[in-house]
Amino acid sequence: MYYDEETIENVRAANDIVDVVGTYVQLRRSGANYFGLCPFHNEKSGSFSVNKNMQIYKCFGCGESGNVFGFVQKYENVSFPESVRILAERAGISLPEPDYTPEERLRVSKKDIIAKINKEAATFYYRLLRSPEGEAAHKYLTDRGLSEETINKFGLGYAGHYTDGLYKYLRSQGHSVEELQITGLFNISEKGVYDKFWNRVMFPIMDIRNRVIAFGGRIMGSAENVAKYLNSPETDLFSKSENLYGLNLAKHSREKFIILAEGYMDVIALHQGGFNNAVASLGTSLTERQARKLTTYTDNIVISYDSDGAGTKAALRAIPILKNVGLSVKILNMSPYKDPDEFIKAIGADEYRKRIESAAQAFDFEAGVLEKSHDFENVDEKTKFDHEIAETIAKIDDPMARYNHVEAAARKYNIDASALRDEVNKIGSRMKAEETNAKAKEAQKASREKKAEEGDTQRARLLLNTITQNKNAYECVKDVLTEQDFGSGIEPAVYIQIRSEYDKMGLAVGARIVEKFTDAEEQSKVADILMTSLEEDMNESERRKAFADLVIGVKKSAIERRIDEAKQAQRGEELVKLFKEEKDLDALRKKLMTADI
Ligand code: CTP
Ligand code: MN
Repeated sequence: MYYDEETIENVRAANDIVDVVGTYVQLRRSGANYFGLCPFHNEKSGSFSVNKNMQIYKCFGCGESGNVFGFVQKYENVSFPESVRILAERAGISLPEPDYTPEERLRVSKKDIIAKINKEAATFYYRLLRSPEGEAAHKYLTDRGLSEETINKFGLGYAGHYTDGLYKYLRSQGHSVEELQITGLFNISEKGVYDKFWNRVMFPIMDIRNRVIAFGGRIMGSAENVAKYLNSPETDLFSKSENLYGLNLAKHSREKFIILAEGYMDVIALHQGGFNNAVASLGTSLTERQARKLTTYTDNIVISYDSDGAGTKAALRAIPILKNVGLSVKILNMSPYKDPDEFIKAIGADEYRKRIESAAQAFDFEAGVLEKSHDFENVDEKTKFDHEIAETIAKIDDPMARYNHVEAAARKYNIDASALRDEVNKIGSRMKAEETNAKAKEAQKASREKKAEEGDTQRARLLLNTITQNKNAYECVKDVLTEQDFGSGIEPAVYIQIRSEYDKMGLAVGARIVEKFTDAEEQSKVADILMTSLEEDMNESERRKAFADLVIGVKKSAIERRIDEAKQAQRGEELVKLFKEEKDLDALRKKLMTADI
């Protein structure tokens, strides 16, 4: 760990989890918890909860949980030290510059290493583009209409004539082969190490925090037998399905919408044309994660995919993904031009702006595509179209909009209005039934899992939770509970931490306990435990009884486990002792029933 505990604690204390999560997720308060839509999975009901007292979050839908650092790590896809940096910056705390010894350096996460090397690589490419070696590459870009300012803004570069230029450079900067290997920038085989990119124009791909996470490289000129673009592979830092090219710039735009294009050149041409709100999903089809990321910055998307068949297909696929996360979607028509780059070059940014204003609602676009693909002169085809348009209308959520679309479509396409209405309703009920079914299945699964968890573990967890939240309860039992009583999972370790927190600090803060576990999976389990609390609306005597039941239950099953072991090993003396301990539980129960908790 290269920030000391005190620094981490200061940063944590300065970042209330409810505030931090609240900047990403709309939360509403209910009792001790705040609820919202989980940013880590797609859902319509708010199963994502944040507990202010414990300073931890948990999603009851997908199971994600952790403290404020864990949240930032997961949401921003960053390492632990980076989450500390982000939150320190947010709270205006300045951090000591981490000073690595060779051992510490090894421990720095892979992500940080890749980000650092990528940045050096980007600088290398950037300089080459502006050197004599990069003359042709530079000319290629200016011939495509890019201004010097644009080239700089996007940090474009050139990968050089040689197949090991970057490798030699980075080695000379002191990077080990192992470090270079994890960046995905090199092909390493028994024949040697080669740069993945050479003689290509380079597009650094940045994440929303302006880290260079990957590269795209384009050959100069037309592609015959070679891929036009080559991209970094997935690495610990780069996940294609999560990032959007240009979002680091678009997120600062004041426009109320984001333009979604297909490629590097589209984004760059749009920004140069004054549309600083353009992003691209980079040739892969848009994912739900990308869509969800967009919701952080806008409610409205204008799709500006290529106007060819592939672009249309991609738009049809993207529409439901965007709508499902609550975005409203329009589709921009660029014909007769192919893509934003070509369009703006041909008739300019003003014309493009007009096309934004006249962009079609997603429904009209979908209907238009359907219309074009069916021959209305052919009765069977026309009937097929009628059914498909009904399907499209049925997907509209708003009942009034749905009604209006039924009426309008009936008129426009000459369909019997009541037949269309019936069909739309039929499909609607079918979709609703399917949705209800899926929900019921999910609920069933959740309840089965819950039952399986009941018993020993559940009791141990509830007890850990109670003594964390309630100091009196802890004081009552600290001398009778040992870590062995908590079984063999992570629970004994949690108990040890709770005890040490009370000893050291006089209180137990959930988030501090979570932090003692370095493994993300463990952290999530611990947060889980700390969120598993007893019913809140119990009166005092009910609470006391519940607490006594927990303690006795936990002790009893621990003793029973040990009795089994002692029996098997035929340790008579120990057995006698255990039987006595079991009997003493009655007295303990009585004591607990009058305890002040
Ligand atoms: N793409 C890719 N590999 C390819 C072709 C395309 O990764 N062989 C991705 C790139 O991210 C590209 C996007 O798909 O930007 C869109 O493809 P295309 O429309 O062919 O590229 P443009 O951005 O229009 O690039 P250019 O104008 O330079 O041809
Ligand atoms: Mn294109």
